[in-house]
Amino acid sequence: MIRLKNEKQIEGIRNSCKMLSAMYRELIPLVKPGVQTIEIDMWVKEWIGKAGGKPAFLGYGGSKRAKKTPYPAAICISINDEVIHGIPSKRRIRDADLVSLDCGIDLGGFISDQALSIPMGKVSRAVAALNKRTMECLYMGIAAIKPGDRLLQIARAVEGHALGGGYTVVQDFCGHGVGLSLHEDPQVPNYPHGPNPRLKSGMVFAVEPMINMGDCDVDTLEDGWTVVTVDGRVSAHWEHTVAVLSDRAEILTEPLEGYLGL
Ligand code: MF3
Ligand code: CO
Repeated sequence: MIRLKNEKQIEGIRNSCKMLSAMYRELIPLVKPGVQTIEIDMWVKEWIGKAGGKPAFLGYGGSKRAKKTPYPAAICISINDEVIHGIPSKRRIRDADLVSLDCGIDLGGFISDQALSIPMGKVSRAVAALNKRTMECLYMGIAAIKPGDRLLQIARAVEGHALGGGYTVVQDFCGHGVGLSLHEDPQVPNYPHGPNPRLKSGMVFAVEPMINMGDCDVDTLEDGWTVVTVDGRVSAHWEHTVAVLSDRAEILTEPLEGYLGL
């Protein structure tokens, strides 16, 4: 069931999104070669706490049946062939890494979700191009949101732009409704498949293309979380939380690509 949000709820989610983007603006300059990813997680926890929020990912999604432990950190940090859900660790970021950050804040019960991939120093031209294309896929998906039209227009736009660049779309994960909890209906796929509801005013969801340089196949590591490409090639990930209004979509999280010079 898709929960439509009223104006007060959208305002709460918008505030959560603004807080998350403000966090990222301070964080981006700190993400550089030599830094351990666990240090980034500690910084993020402290920032969100001081700002009066709670990390929305911390403790999320344990399942005994799936032998999956709750997500143990505030932020996902996925490097190079890691697609999403990388767990912060003692691993140090290196020059030429593509570092994907994904974070969410719970501000008074209103949940935000945003991700971006940051090239470290001298990444190859191929990696820089993949990253730019993935960011463009995000905006083309959002531009395809037309109230009254259907959800899978987003997937068509994302997939078309990814394939047009010679890349592949990760099929095993998708965007999702968000705002009152982290994962709500509808699923927002990055290639056209599954339910195709009409886009209605009051829908709030995360659009989050995950685009691969090589094959689309992914695997989950022994830690139960980290998703990697099977062929070991690089993957990029960009995400915004958006609200569908009566006549257009509003991007609730704020653009960050300008801070990367993209
Ligand atoms: N943006 C990611 C997602 O939508 C964040 C979830 S990470 C988790 O799946 F740890 F919280 F699951
Ligand atoms: Co998400």
